[in-house]
This record gives sequence, C-alpha cells and structure tokens, in this order.
Amino acid sequence: MTTVLSGLRQETISSLDRLSPNQQLLPLTAITNQRDRLEIGGCDVVELVEQYGSPLYILDEVSLRTACQQYRDALKQHYQGTSQVLYASKAWSCLAVCAIVGSEGLGIDVVSAGEILTALRAGVSSSLIYFHGNNKSVEELSYALESSCTVVVDNWHELKTLDRLAQEQTSKPRIMLRLTPGIECHTHEYIQTGHIDSKFGFDPNEIEAVFAFLAASSLNCIGIHAHIGSQIFELQPHQDIGGVMVQWFQLAGEKYGLQFSELNIGGGLGIRYVESDDPPSIEDWIKAVVAGVTEAFIGAGLPLPKLLCEPGRSLVGSTCVTAYTIGGSKTVPDIRTYITVDGGMSDNPRPITYQSQYRAVVANHMSAALSQTVTIAGKHCESGDILIKDIQLPTTNPGDILVVFGTGAYNYSMASNYNRLPKPAAVLVEGGASSLIIKRETREDLLRQDCLPERLCS
Ligand code: LLP
Repeated sequence: MTTVLSGLRQETISSLDRLSPNQQLLPLTAITNQRDRLEIGGCDVVELVEQYGSPLYILDEVSLRTACQQYRDALKQHYQGTSQVLYASKAWSCLAVCAIVGSEGLGIDVVSAGEILTALRAGVSSSLIYFHGNNKSVEELSYALESSCTVVVDNWHELKTLDRLAQEQTSKPRIMLRLTPGIECHTHEYIQTGHIDSKFGFDPNEIEAVFAFLAASSLNCIGIHAHIGSQIFELQPHQDIGGVMVQWFQLAGEKYGLQFSELNIGGGLGIRYVESDDPPSIEDWIKAVVAGVTEAFIGAGLPLPKLLCEPGRSLVGSTCVTAYTIGGSKTVPDIRTYITVDGGMSDNPRPITYQSQYRAVVANHMSAALSQTVTIAGKHCESGDILIKDIQLPTTNPGDILVVFGTGAYNYSMASNYNRLPKPAAVLVEGGASSLIIKRETREDLLRQDCLPERLCS
C-alpha cells in the first residue's frame, strides 16, 4: 500500500537541524500522529483548523529558525570575511516572521515603505534593513533615510533623487548600487532578473558614469548588489556572481576612489515543491557563493568584502503549509475528477501565475491508501484557479482537511481579496503550542476601505 507519508516520514526522523529545510517537502517537524493525522510543531493540524478556521496557513517555527541558522552558520564557517544574511521579506512580510528572523541575527531586505514599517515594528535594527525596488517614490525614499535604512539604488532617477534628498541630511545616506550582472539562469522567465534585458538595476554600460557621479555626490556608497533570479537549482550562476562583481569593485576603487566594502549577491536558492525538485542544500549554496567570491577577490588582490545574501523562498517557503477544507467534487467521465477547496488563487496565486506545482495530503487520514488521481480546484470564478493538477489522494469526503505544502513564500505576501474572499489566518506552531500571527479577515474588513458617496446612498 502506498501512502504519501511513507515517502515523507523518512525526512523527519533523526536530527532535524541537519536537514536543509528547502530540500524537504514538509516542514521539519511534520509527523503522522497516533490519530493518523498530520501534526506540525507538535500540533494536530485538524485541531488547528477547528480552532482557527479554514483555510489556514500553519508556520513551523523550528523549520524557520533552522533555515536562518543554516544560512548564518554556513557563512560564518565557510567565509573568511565578515558576512550578513538578510531575509528577503517580499517572500512573507509580517511581524512574526520578521521578528523570528531578526532574533536569529538576520537583517531584512525590504521593497516598500510597508515592508520597512513591518521590519522596524518587528524590532529589526534599521542598520540591518536594506531597501530595494525599481521605482521607489520620493516619499518612500525620505522614509527610508529618516529611518536610517540602507538604500539599494536601482537607476539614475533614484540616484539623482537621493542625492538631492541627501542635501537635507546631517550625515551622508548609506547606499548600495544594484547592477545587472548579465548572468542567465534556468527558472520561470517572470522570476529571472540577472540577464541584461531586465527592468532591475544599472546596465553595465552605465557603470562608469554612475561611479563618476557618486564620486562627486553627497552619498556614501558602501558596495554593490546583484540578484539573478528565483527558484534556481543550479549552483554555477550564483558561483559566477563574484567573478562578475569583482571587476566593478576594482574599477570603483582604482579609477574613482570609491572604497566599497559590501557585496550583496542576492537570493534565489530554490525549494522542493514536488518530489522531482532537487535543490542544493543551504550549506552547499553558501559554499558555492563563497568559493566564487573568495577566488575572485583574492585573484584580484582585493580584500574580501563583507558578504551579504538575501534569501526569501529558501528561508520561509518550506516552513509553512496551507490547510483547506474539502467541499464538493465533480467527475467529468474519462477526463478528470475535480475536488474543490475553500480557497484558491486568492491565497496562493502561484499556480495560476507561474504554473507552479504543489503536493498535498489529506491531513485527517494520513495513512489511507492513495486510490484516486484528482485535480484540486480553488473556489474562484476562473477556470484557471487550479491549485494542483493530477495528484494522487486517498478517497476524500466533504469536510476532509487538505494540506498543501511549501506555501510559506509568495503566498500570503501575494494573496488578494479576489471575489471578495477574506484573507486566511496564519498560526505559528512550536512545541505543541500554537499562536495566531495573522488574524483572519472578516467580511467587515473587506468593506473597510470602501466609501459610498452620499448621493449613492438609498
Ligand atoms: N533579492 C532581490 C533583489 C529579489 O528581487 C528577490 C526576489 C530576492 C532577493 C529573494 O529571492 P528568493 O530567495 O526568494 O528566490 N513571486 C515569485 C518570486 C519573485 C521573486 C522576486 N524577487 C514566485 O512566487 O515565485
């Protein structure tokens, strides 16, 4: 008899902290309990749904802390220079996630005033907040400067705006430059960013002019940044970044007297969404990055820079699952059976946006035999609102709890209220206890921003 968990249980035994969370389908603490139900962080998932409602994001604290520690410790162990891991909070920006990663010593990469506010309120020091984005508004830039965040400058317009804003500052604002390294990688075209035809960063042709501008500016440029893409399984593109960036470090110092000290090589390590995904471990990724940077800088006779990286998906992606309640089903003879759940593209827009694949289990019958191939449909008014196509599941009934894995990254953060669905709640689980970290939206919340002009009132 095949069960999904018989393939997964192996991953959760022995010492959890040696497993790289991004290589697991399930959070590290996931087990089947004696009631034949899925348990995460010592909490019965079915009971969590009874307590907090459905759909529900369930975040495993042990997995998140383990991923943070593996990045931080691997950098310390393998890199001779100083280093700092930043969490790319676009993956999931909320107070609890920022507070946890902050307490593990990580800084935060933010891309909007909203993400800055979240990181600051979570208690992260502004000296560890790096502000990205290809069209930051003047208001956002002013907020970042007032809060003493480092701004990662993306283009000429922003550079000139910042230089103007810097005149009003008492000290020179800390900035970095985002450069397009011209490195291609294999991933979905929407999430490639390092190739030359990208909307992000300065083109290599502009670099000398930018350096000349900086040398005469009121800005304190501390280094350079590149990010080549997301959900990447190859190590070579990340290993190559050091070799591309070192020439610009050298040029800045030798020709323009700009003393850069920090090199940020972005994020991008992939995670395992389905069995066939085979991403490298966090430690192997760090080793590859470090090898590339060390070889390039030592080869060029330059001191090792402070090395920053900014993973998002591989920190938080595999630490969270989404529990849904199964509703009705529909069988189209000789074609497929649809099973519907009480969420869909509003809480997980990744399948409809990137054709992303996911795996799931029926959490209240973990060891039941897989007896049918079904398609999991969301409840939105779109035919494309399919969460998982052709998955093997046991026989299901309305009211069963379907748990989809790997939903920690770019799910809540990309969630919408499409069809006026309230966003689900999120809970943090650890050691048998659960705590609410994001409240479920209510119907009233959906109307909070609506205004009805008086003349329309009946
Ligand atoms: N740094 C920068 C400048 C980025 O643009 C990103 C992601 C990261 C770091 C983090 O990359 P990660 O480690 O998460 O791969 N919504 C898409 C992913 C978009 C990624 C955007 N940038 C998805 O759901 O797959």
